Order: sequence, then C-alpha cells, then structure tokens
Amino acid sequence: MNKSQVITLLVASNVFLVSLLYVSNYWNIHWPVESIPHGHINKESEYVNPFKVYEEYPIDLVNASAIFNTVHGALKQKDANLNPVGVSFIPAYIPPNTRFYHSTGSPEIPESFEWIAMEYEFSYAFAQFQKPQNSTKPPPFPKKPPGAPESGNKHKHLPFFGDAYLYSFRTTRALDKVILLDGASAAKYSPLMDQQMILSRQKNTSAPVDERIAAEKICDWGQSFGLQGIIRLEIGFEIIVCDFQRDLELISNVTLDTTIDTLSIPSGSDGSAPLIKKFSAQDSFENLRMSSYVNDGDRRIKLDFSKMVTPLNKTYIDPNPFARNISYIDNELKEDIIGELETFYATTKIDPYETTDWQVVTGLIENKFGPLFDTINKTFTFFNGSEESLEILGEDLLTLTFNFKRRYNDINHHIDRDQYGFNSSILDYVHHTYPLQHNDILIYSSIFKVQFEISTMMFDIYNLGRDIVDKVSDLEVLKQRVAIKQKELVEFLDILRWTIFVDCTEKCGLNSVCYVPTWGPSPFGWGQRNEKFFDNIDGVYSISKNLQCVDFDDLLALRHQW
Ligand SMILES: *[C@@H]1O[C@H](CO)[C@@H](O)[C@H](O)[C@H]1NC(C)=O
Ligand SMILES: *[C@@H]1O[C@H](CO)[C@@H](O)[C@H](O)[C@H]1NC(C)=O
Ligand SMILES: *[C@@H]1O[C@H](CO)[C@@H](O)[C@H](O)[C@H]1NC(C)=O
Ligand SMILES: *[C@@H]1O[C@H](CO)[C@@H](O)[C@H](O)[C@H]1NC(C)=O
Ligand SMILES: *[C@@H]1O[C@H](CO)[C@@H](O)[C@H](O)[C@H]1NC(C)=O
Ligand SMILES: *[C@@H]1O[C@H](CO)[C@@H](O)[C@H](O)[C@H]1NC(C)=O
Ligand SMILES: *[C@@H]1O[C@H](CO)[C@@H](O)[C@H](O)[C@H]1NC(C)=O
Ligand SMILES: *[C@@H]1O[C@H](CO)[C@@H](O)[C@H](O)[C@H]1NC(C)=O
Ligand SMILES: *[C@@H]1O[C@H](CO)[C@@H](O)[C@H](O)[C@H]1NC(C)=O
Repeated sequence: MNKSQVITLLVASNVFLVSLLYVSNYWNIHWPVESIPHGHINKESEYVNPFKVYEEYPIDLVNASAIFNTVHGALKQKDANLNPVGVSFIPAYIPPNTRFYHSTGSPEIPESFEWIAMEYEFSYAFAQFQKPQNSTKPPPFPKKPPGAPESGNKHKHLPFFGDAYLYSFRTTRALDKVILLDGASAAKYSPLMDQQMILSRQKNTSAPVDERIAAEKICDWGQSFGLQGIIRLEIGFEIIVCDFQRDLELISNVTLDTTIDTLSIPSGSDGSAPLIKKFSAQDSFENLRMSSYVNDGDRRIKLDFSKMVTPLNKTYIDPNPFARNISYIDNELKEDIIGELETFYATTKIDPYETTDWQVVTGLIENKFGPLFDTINKTFTFFNGSEESLEILGEDLLTLTFNFKRRYNDINHHIDRDQYGFNSSILDYVHHTYPLQHNDILIYSSIFKVQFEISTMMFDIYNLGRDIVDKVSDLEVLKQRVAIKQKELVEFLDILRWTIFVDCTEKCGLNSVCYVPTWGPSPFGWGQRNEKFFDNIDGVYSISKNLQCVDFDDLLALRHQW
C-alpha cells in the first residue's frame, strides 16, 4: 500500500485532515499532501490489510508487545497493577449520569479540582469510623513506612477528622475530555507518576511528583481545550476532576455520624472498640471486591484508542513494565506528547463508539493463545530426554497445534498452501472495525506484529511435533530441535508478558478475592513494602505469577497489628 492509499482511508473529513497534518508533524511523518483525496470514506466497506500497514510502518516485537499490552490492559485494574509504570495517555469518555463518589470534611462542593472515586467504598474509607480524640489518631491506612520512597505529596485526600460528608455526584453531560493515565498512576511513587510529571512540565525530573501541584498545573494546562479530568489507579480507579462546579451535580449528601456514638459500641480498655476494626476491615474487603470486579475493565468509562498518545516506539523504553520510566526521555518528545494531546482535544472529537475497540482484538488473541502457549510451555518441561518421552512430547505438541494448522489448510489452495494458511491465520485475528484514524496505525501494526509471531510459533511447533511423530531424523537431532524451540518459546512468552499468565492458583470463593496487589497506600499497607505480595529482584519490585486469595480475616488480622 502506498501512502496515498493509507491517506484515503485515514481522511474522514477536511476538519480531520487539518488535525492529522498538524499531529503528524510531531512525529515527523510526512504525508504526501497533494495526493489526499477529498470527500468522505465509506464506513461500511473500507478495510486495510494489516500486512500492508506493517510493510509501511514496521515495528519491532518488543515495542509491538508493549503497545499490545498497553491497549489490552487499559482501564483494567489487574493489568494496570501488573504493568504499574504506565507511559501512555489514552483519551477517555464518560457517559452522562455516571456516579462519582467523594468524601470530605468540607461542607462545600470543591471550588476547583479535587479527587473522586469510582467506588464509594474507596471514598468512604477516608471518612473514618470514630471521631478521634486528637489529631494524631492513625488513619485507616497505615502511614508510609520508614524508608519508603518520598513522594513529597500533600494529598488533600488524606483521612480527615471531625464531620464527614459523603457526596455522590452525577456527570451532567458526557465527559469527552478526560485522559486515562495507564498503569498504577496514582500510587504516589516515582516512576509511577511520570505521566503527571510530563503533563505538569516538572523541570526537576529527579524530584518526586507533588500530586497536588501536578494536578493544578495539569488542569490549568487543560483549560484551553476544556480538559475535564485525568483518570488514575490507586487502590481503585479515581479521577482528578478539574472543575466540580462545571461538570458534576451533587445528587446525594450524607453527613456521617460517628458509629461509636450512635450504635453504642462497647469500648475496649484503650478507648478503641474492637468492633470498629471489623467494620473497617469489612469496608476494605468490599472495596477490594469491587476493585477486582474491574480487573477486566471498568465499563463505566469508554476509551478512544485512535487518539492514544505514547512515547512507545518513539524512543528506547525498558520493556520491563516494573522497571521502566519516562522521566528521562527527551524534552522534545515530552513536548510532542503534550502537543499531540492538545491537538486531539482541540480539533477532534473523542469518540469511543465509532472507533475500533482494539481490546476486542487483543482479547481474542490473548484468550485464544494464552492458554495454548501455557500448556505447550509446560509440555516441554515434562520432556526428560528419553525416546519414549520424546514420542509423548511429539504427540502432545501436535495435538495442541493440529487444529489450528488444519483450520487454515485449504486443500483447494494448490500454490503456497502453507504460506496461504499462515497469512489467513493472521488476517483472521488482526482486523480493524471502523476506519483507521490517527494513531490506530501504530496499534494495528503492533497487533499485526504480535500475531505474526504467534502464528509463526504455532506453525513451528506444529512442524516440530509432526517431525517428531514422523521420526524424520534421529533422536539427537530432534532433541536439539526441541531444546531450541523450547528456549524460543520461553523467550517469546517473556516478551509477550501477558497478564493472562498471572492468576490465583486456585479459584477464590465468593467470600474472597483473587488479590492483585496495588502499589500505593492500601488496606494492606504501602504497596511494595508488603513482602507477602511483592517480589524484590535486585531492588526492582514486581508481582509474581501466583496471586493469592484474600478475605475479610486477612484484613482484620492486619488491623490488629496496627
Ligand atoms: C516505529 O518506529 C520506527 C522507527 O522510528 C518507524 O520507522 C516506524 O514507522 C514506527 N512504526 C509505527 C507502526 O509507527
Ligand atoms: C451537606 O449537608 C450538610 C447538612 O445539611 C450541609 O451542612 C452541607 O453544606 C451540605 N453540603 C453540600 C455540598 O451541600
Ligand atoms: C494525642 O494522642 C497522642 C498519642 O496517643 C498522645 O501522645 C497525645 O498526648 C494526645 N494529645 C492530646 C492533646 O490529647
Ligand atoms: C532535584 O530534586 C532532587 C531530589 O529531590 C534534589 O536532590 C535536587 O537538589 C533537585 N535539583 C534542583 C536543581 O532543584
Ligand atoms: C522501540 O522503538 C524505538 C524507536 O524505533 C527504538 O529506539 C527502541 O530501541 C525500540 N525498543 C524499545 C525496547 O524501546
Ligand atoms: C529511567 O530509565 C532510564 C533508561 O532505562 C535509566 O537510565 C534511568 O536510570 C531510569 N531512571 C530512574 C529514576 O529509574
Ligand atoms: C515457561 O516455562 C518456563 C520453564 O521452562 C518458565 O520458567 C516460564 O516462566 C514459563 N513461562 C510462562 C509464561 O509461564
Ligand atoms: C522419562 O519419561 C518417560 C515418559 O514419561 C518415563 O517413562 C521415564 O521413566 C522417564 N525417564 C527418566 C529417566 O526420568
Ligand atoms: C502472504 O502475505 C504476504 C504479504 O502480504 C504476500 O506477499 C504473500 O504473497 C501472501 N502469500 C499467500 C500465499 O497468500
């Protein structure tokens, strides 16, 4: 496909064209202006073959995989915690009448920007249960442990004392100028706050991000194009709403009584009531439960991936999403990100409805091939070098890949049948729905690259299995081929880094939660300081593949320790 064909498909209107040209300058993509046709494209029939897009805009597997995972994991609690250092900016859209929750000690609606939670349990936790005797009463979350990284933030959303108001708001109209910062972007630590560092144009990149200052600067920056807020993940999704007065309406205002007074809960000898600990643990548990409900995505919020802005594939970024950071990237690239976002919000419509929902595409791929690769990976480990074991391995590898191969093997296709089947297996999975626009090209090419490598691996393993079963060569040669392919698969899965491989080893009951640890303050303490849930490999904290079920008792036990 030549560029003019790409353009044909990209140009939906003249307005769009202007923005496209403007945006493309940022990434130095020079579109041939003279060849751009006028008029509208036919939404029903346009289809761009991903082979052609990839040919024009290639991408290496590591970058492609990072983009695949960014798209696949966006607005999913589990994926965000497993890829905690987010580096991308994804335009979001929130329908009218969506509920937001805010608990506060103030009897007024916030004058300017403030935080809201998507779950009321999250916001309610800030209100406390007992009117404290004095202001040194411990907050519901434990204090930052000694030695934890300084965040320097003065988060106003800290537990407050005295009267507590629980406010519920509704959005008075669709919010279409909201940015999702992927990863655990409200976890208070560097580098999880790097996207906010960039948007707030923080000069000292080694200083922590003060999230209140950053929020103010970001909302100020967004005034010119009407930014309504930024979505982040702490122990649940929360939004910094830039203007409560403009975009929200108060629909419920509950002044909380202090439980200990109303229900005449018996006090312990130290003046505290043991039952209060239970109430608090129960609230935390319900909060975790509702957060795990959005492990697969928060459907209250929609995303427009075509306008996703990311430094991925623009510069080197560590492929390990636990270790990467973007504080160091060139200032020019940082300004490009800011400029591209401004352009999208100022000149285009954020539209999650008539743009391709790439999570549908990545979801089919990950759910189809994740379990297969996991089984194949385990199958290799059972091989012990004996002839009998090799035979078993051959049959197993063939069994796991045979149907995939056969399903694309058209006997009427006489020329290049294998290649044809291989191509078809990619085209089956990699397609767009609505016409490609803006940064869809980057995503489309990335998903193509990932699926290309998946199909290659599946066909290779099929061939290996068949050759073992057919005994095409002697034992030693086959054993060598097995060792090579096994190594390739392990390396490939390491690059894919799919979250489907991370799970609880047993199914948790209804009264427990498969807990994906969060990175900031949480009912379990401050993120990575909790060794029960985090690994520390050479100073880099990460989350291991085996998650644990947690329940009310686990939370209560901790409350007794504080
Ligand atoms: C990825 O980056 C390379 C190098 O800058 C560029 O040539 C290529 O077009 C980019 N790929 C996509 C899909 O944008
Ligand atoms: C909520 O109700 C309390 C009690 O009536 C009142 O003092 C407070 O101002 C109200 N808050 C708002 C934002 O209306
Ligand atoms: C507040 O509580 C702390 C810790 O329990 C105690 O040391 C302090 O004396 C108390 N202050 C007042 C004014 O009661
Ligand atoms: C940048 O921040 C670091 C860490 O807080 C601090 O040590 C350093 O002095 C700051 N640099 C400047 C120029 O302010
Ligand atoms: C990703 O793409 C960019 C631009 O082409 C390149 O500089 C970088 O090395 C690639 N790989 C990673 C891991 O960032
Ligand atoms: C950020 O990443 C770059 C490139 O991998 C690295 O050189 C730098 O040390 C990292 N900085 C921090 C604060 O982690
Ligand atoms: C694949 O198997 C190897 C052992 O051969 C293991 O180390 C690796 O973690 C497995 N990969 C996945 C994604 O399960
Ligand atoms: C290797 O595996 C085969 C098949 O499972 C088994 O029969 C054999 O005993 C194993 N040999 C060794 C040395 O473990
Ligand atoms: C497979 O796709 C490639 C890239 O579009 C093309 O060059 C090749 O001819 C195709 N092969 C067959 C047999 O369809």
